[in-house]
Amino acid sequence: MITREAVIESLRAVDDPELHRSVVDLDMVRHVVVNGTEVSVTLALTIPGCPLKDYFNRAVPQAVQAGCPEVTAVHLELTSMSEDERSRVIGDVRVRVPKVGDSESRTRIIAVGSGKGGVGKSTVAVNLAAALTTRGHKVGLLDADIWGFSVPHMLGATGRPTVVDDLIMPIEAHGMSVLSIGNFVPEDSPVVWRGPMLHKALEQMLADVHWDDRDYLVIDMPPGTGDVSISLSQYLPNADFLLVTTPHDTAERVALRAGRMMEKVGMRLAGVVENMATFVCGDCSTEHQLFGIGAGSRLAELLDVPLLARIPLEPALTSQVDGTAPTVLTHPETLSATRFAELASTIAGQSSLVRRPLPLLT
Ligand SMILES: Nc1ncnc2c1ncn2[C@@H]1O[C@H](COP(=O)(O)OP(=O)(O)OP(=O)(O)O)[C@@H](O)[C@H]1O
Ligand SMILES: [Mg+2]
Repeated sequence: MITREAVIESLRAVDDPELHRSVVDLDMVRHVVVNGTEVSVTLALTIPGCPLKDYFNRAVPQAVQAGCPEVTAVHLELTSMSEDERSRVIGDVRVRVPKVGDSESRTRIIAVGSGKGGVGKSTVAVNLAAALTTRGHKVGLLDADIWGFSVPHMLGATGRPTVVDDLIMPIEAHGMSVLSIGNFVPEDSPVVWRGPMLHKALEQMLADVHWDDRDYLVIDMPPGTGDVSISLSQYLPNADFLLVTTPHDTAERVALRAGRMMEKVGMRLAGVVENMATFVCGDCSTEHQLFGIGAGSRLAELLDVPLLARIPLEPALTSQVDGTAPTVLTHPETLSATRFAELASTIAGQSSLVRRPLPLLT
């Protein structure tokens, strides 16, 4: 016999896709009526006109029929929460999930930066985030390049985020939660902000965004060591900094200054990524050292950190800027995709070392 309780139990499998919690735990299930083998369910969504209606229309019948196979029809009615109910739910989510950067948060933060512009920070950030996601980690990607944001375009994550009771929901793209200042301003309009505004925007993009308890938050930093880097180091004192350089002399020297500066403001340098390190010739499959050898390892040695990856110059990565998916997903067969997968695996290994309790404490 189909019972109301069994239907509710089966609804536990349905998560609100933005809040990442079961609709039962979020108190969204309003009525469940069983009439023979037919079931009527009323769900109260967090906001009226929720863009996720299609998702619920699909997920709810699926979950009920998976949990109660005798059910022949599911009638779903979608309503929306009152303002009070919404505030309570969001308040509860805010209390239960520590903010990224707080000492109780389990999210490991990886800031991808460099000294110079154009060395491949965004390319590394996006592909590292995707490679970590492919390994099964829950990943957030924050584009902190306020003036030069590029992540929405690179990932096709150009929509405007939903805001529920002052809590901003990141855009879901390729299995990751993504957010950029580009999701708030029209595509081609400049962001003309100075120190205090920048500080405030970054604070909001960390504290007022539902990053949830991600395993990783990868941050695409703006070039150089300006206001944004200093603000982030204050908000995120536990962040790891990944320094991207190219093999060119100038990039290496500027990256060294950036690395030292990051150490000065208290960020932990996790290592160096040498981008455009080699060129793989399509005909001979050999890696050519077009721009010289050893810049990445020299830099790593000077900063006393590991050289974590050498990413080759590859056409697939160049076309990603106007693409809508990370190269590690669209071209997993390329050498750069393999290197990004190795980088993700090294980073994941580092994190397990960091989190492993000391033998004395176990
Ligand atoms: N390994 C690579 N192979 C081929 N092209 C690459 C590679 N890395 C980056 N590129 C290309 O170089 C350009 C700059 O890369 P990207 O935007 O990632 O750099 P950035 O450091 O984030 O730049 P900015 O300082 O402007 O934010 C892009 O067109 C990108 O596609
Ligand atoms: Mg960039």
